[in-house]
Amino acid sequence: MFLEVKDLKKVYKRQRAVDGIDFSLKEGEIFGLLGPNGAGKSTTISMIAGLIKPTDGDIIVEGRSILKSPKEIKRMMGLVPQEIALYPTLSARENLKFWGRMYGMDSIRLKERIDEVLRILGLTERADHRIDTYSGGMKRRINIGAALLHQPKLLIMDEPTVGIDPQSRKHILDMVLDLNRQGMTILYTSHYMEEVEYLCHRVAIMDRGSIIASGTKEELKAMVGNAHKVVVEADNFRQYMVDTLRVLEGVQQVMVEKQSITILVKDGRKRLADIIKVFNDDGCKVNSVSIKEPDLEGVFLHLTGRALRN
Ligand SMILES: Nc1ncnc2c1ncn2[C@@H]1O[C@H](COP(=O)(O)OP(=O)(O)OP(=O)(O)O)[C@@H](O)[C@H]1O
Ligand SMILES: [Mg+2]
Repeated sequence: MFLEVKDLKKVYKRQRAVDGIDFSLKEGEIFGLLGPNGAGKSTTISMIAGLIKPTDGDIIVEGRSILKSPKEIKRMMGLVPQEIALYPTLSARENLKFWGRMYGMDSIRLKERIDEVLRILGLTERADHRIDTYSGGMKRRINIGAALLHQPKLLIMDEPTVGIDPQSRKHILDMVLDLNRQGMTILYTSHYMEEVEYLCHRVAIMDRGSIIASGTKEELKAMVGNAHKVVVEADNFRQYMVDTLRVLEGVQQVMVEKQSITILVKDGRKRLADIIKVFNDDGCKVNSVSIKEPDLEGVFLHLTGRALRN
């Protein structure tokens, strides 16, 4: 194993932010850490990157404990933080220069790498413009670039696409795939199920400080019996109908959010008529019905009874 996280814990005064988790990354894979707000993703990543000290547990990179030889191991890693860490009044090039020096790079290599990284980011043209003239998506890209300068073997990305336009998102996701194809191992954190499905070879789903499931996407979906997600938008839905829905054949979970009722059900297409009937029998007006193929959102819903996004 390239990276092993062993019984890792971080306990704050009032909170078990990370409550004894185990997972490992193979060299050359993209591993996803998927979880809602407050799951403990950033805390986990900060411990791996050596920014905060674990309360307990260990992190092993290529056979060595990061707690015992942090310096050498840190040099192999690049961290893309959740918050954008750039100086707004400096240009992209100057920001990258700053980060390169932080990583201890000599100036000749750094100059070459900055040009290369700007090319990878697709931002060569804008390199000498101030960061505060950049769009959110462009800032995100430079934020990633800062972690690429020293050519890390392991790239750790903490929600690198939050709050950006679809085009920048696509650019970033494809960049991640490219970097991986060139041999980089990637730990990718997100609360967007679609991103993790698109990118990751293996996934750990995290909730409230624990890993509640992990495996390949296929393994995770199989774990919930490849259930479909049926979403019914309806007027006059009454809470007692949840019980009626729950006992229908194949139904695993029912979640109500205002007018929207989400039903996790095996063989969703076959069960659709039964489901609609419950609504009709109770004089509840159905406005729309959609049926979605099994996805990781469904796995999370199945395991927690809650939606991944809030
Ligand atoms: N320095 C701290 N002191 C006290 N509690 C903290 C600290 N850092 C994080 N926490 C708590 O630990 C839990 C996990 O936080 P963390 O930031 O790791 O979650 P996350 O999965 O990254 O969430 P998000 O998607 O919002 O970034 C949260 O409940 C948070 O409030
Ligand atoms: Mg976070």
